Amino acid sequence: MNAIEPAGQFMLGDRAVNRMGYGAMQLAGPHVFGPPRDRDAALDVLRAAVAAGVTHIDTSDFYGPHVVNELIREALAPYPQELVLVTKVGAVRGDDASWNVAASASELRRAVEDNLRNLALDTLELVNFRAMLGGGNAGPTEGSIATPFAALAAMRDEGLIRHLGVSNVTARQVAEASAIAPLACVQNLYNLAHREDDALIDALAEQGIAYVPFFPLGGFSRLQSSRLDDVARNLDATPMQVALAWLLRRSPNILLIPGTSSVVHLRENLAAASLELTDTAMAALDEMSG
Ligand SMILES: NC(=O)c1ccc[n+]([C@@H]2O[C@H](COP(=O)([O-])OP(=O)(O)OC[C@H]3O[C@@H](n4cnc5c(N)ncnc54)[C@H](OP(=O)(O)O)[C@@H]3O)[C@@H](O)[C@H]2O)c1
Repeated sequence: MNAIEPAGQFMLGDRAVNRMGYGAMQLAGPHVFGPPRDRDAALDVLRAAVAAGVTHIDTSDFYGPHVVNELIREALAPYPQELVLVTKVGAVRGDDASWNVAASASELRRAVEDNLRNLALDTLELVNFRAMLGGGNAGPTEGSIATPFAALAAMRDEGLIRHLGVSNVTARQVAEASAIAPLACVQNLYNLAHREDDALIDALAEQGIAYVPFFPLGGFSRLQSSRLDDVARNLDATPMQVALAWLLRRSPNILLIPGTSSVVHLRENLAAASLELTDTAMAALDEMSG
């Protein structure tokens, strides 16, 4: 048994993936822009993830831009059959590293084509529509996503994409998208300190739809809490491992994609798959929200 098997599997569309996966965003340069400081180290992280049993890698062609997908292709193509690469569209990067909305039908098609080319694939297994209705880095913002999501559904019908998901969305937008095409996953910000999606996670679990939290470790401002530190110390684990183990225990439909540019951190994170949280630890962590 490899280190991540104890966390089990869940379905992403019609593919079973290990619940402990990897998010590749951190492999680009500073501010998710340009090449990594150490290209060989970035390639090592990707190869180490797959060697350790990761079957779900999250990416986007707007990481870099293009850089992260090119690294994935260089490190891993031809891809192992069991590996599911999940990408997202809906934004482009400005020359100043800004994140700009790109959700017209032609922009979405270009993004799908960029992902296909840079990942060297004929079909994308799963594409998330990344909503940016609030602009920039705003969180989920109400408003219709029907037009861009329908454009992606048309590309699914064409055979360019196998499954669809949505990201940075409200429960209402999830329902709106589901009425257009089946959803394989929802990818939103969620972690020990940000639990706005609790009800959504439970509703998706009932429907067998994966929920993929981004920023599982807090993202650019890593989770910090004396309570988390105490729980970790008592379990002889690290705070980041506890944060991941809590997510795994939170709901069976949660798939993890912690991001790192370091093989040492990668191995530490993957080891959280076999960390069992006691009920006392869960109770202490459940009080951390907000
Ligand atoms: N849909 C969206 O809008 C969206 C937004 C953001 C991210 N994402 C996806 O979600 C994935 C995860 O999010 P994320 O990477 O931004 O944030 P994250 O997983 O919450 O945290 C990553 C940060 O934690 C550090 N880190 C990782 N493991 C660590 C460890 N064991 N000990 C100490 N520090 C550690 C990393 O630095 P080091 O590199 O030094 O380890 C990095 O700074 C991304 O890779 C991306 O694929 C999606």
